[in-house]
Amino acid sequence: MPEYCVTGGTGFIAAYLVKSLLEKGHRVRTTVRDPGDVGKVGLLREFDGAKERLKIFKADLLEEGSFDEAIQGVDGVFHTASPVLVPHDDNIQATLIDPCINGTLNVLNSCSKANTVKRVVLTSSCSSIRYRDDVQQVSPLNESHWSDPEYCKRYDLWYAYAKTIGEKEAWRAAKENGIDLVVVNPSYVVGPLLAPQPTSTLLLILAIVKGFVF
Ligand SMILES: NC(=O)c1ccc[n+]([C@@H]2O[C@H](COP(=O)([O-])OP(=O)(O)OC[C@H]3O[C@@H](n4cnc5c(N)ncnc54)[C@H](OP(=O)(O)O)[C@@H]3O)[C@@H](O)[C@H]2O)c1
Repeated sequence: MPEYCVTGGTGFIAAYLVKSLLEKGHRVRTTVRDPGDVGKVGLLREFDGAKERLKIFKADLLEEGSFDEAIQGVDGVFHTASPVLVPHDDNIQATLIDPCINGTLNVLNSCSKANTVKRVVLTSSCSSIRYRDDVQQVSPLNESHWSDPEYCKRYDLWYAYAKTIGEKEAWRAAKENGIDLVVVNPSYVVGPLLAPQPTSTLLLILAIVKGFVF
């Protein structure tokens, strides 16, 4: 059976991917920032088949080469790790933009070096499509449309800005390095939470309910 790497295994979508790949009988590797964080990582070890077929690696999007070991030798990579909710008073460049853009390039670079990766699936976002001045005129939007980075900057849409540039850079790097890239652009992904602690999507819903501003 092929072996896959899922980046950011503690994430909402990634945990489902890891679980599903294990259920299908694959060998799975996943990356987390802190393998010692039992509260976050523990659930991954409890999935059916995890004991025999799941390996957990430490990797950070901000560290060049950090994903090399996890990706070396695998057949495919699902790149989902990305900061999603970042409070406004944070250093947006360091906490959101750099991990999203440079982190994606780091992952693709590891894929290129590995020489075994047949396909990479990147989780981008509908945010990389829909933020543009002419959105009313071009509806319905499709994969040929992009968010306008200048529009994103004007309205402080930094997540959309980072996802847009991140996806564009991913397509460029994939072309340059001969990587078979597939991009998915979800809108709002909801469903039962696998993790014991709320992940970013649930925190966003809670913030709306409680009237917090992110
Ligand atoms: N959920 C949605 O509704 C939705 C919609 C559209 C697109 N997406 C995209 O889908 C992907 C997954 O979303 P999600 O909601 O599942 O995210 P999530 O639950 O917030 O998980 C994000 C993951 O990224 C990891 N991460 C953040 N910064 C990192 C860094 N510097 N280095 C390494 N890992 C880092 C987190 O690790 P830690 O546990 O260490 O923080 C976590 O595992 C993201 O790319 C997101 O942009 C999500």
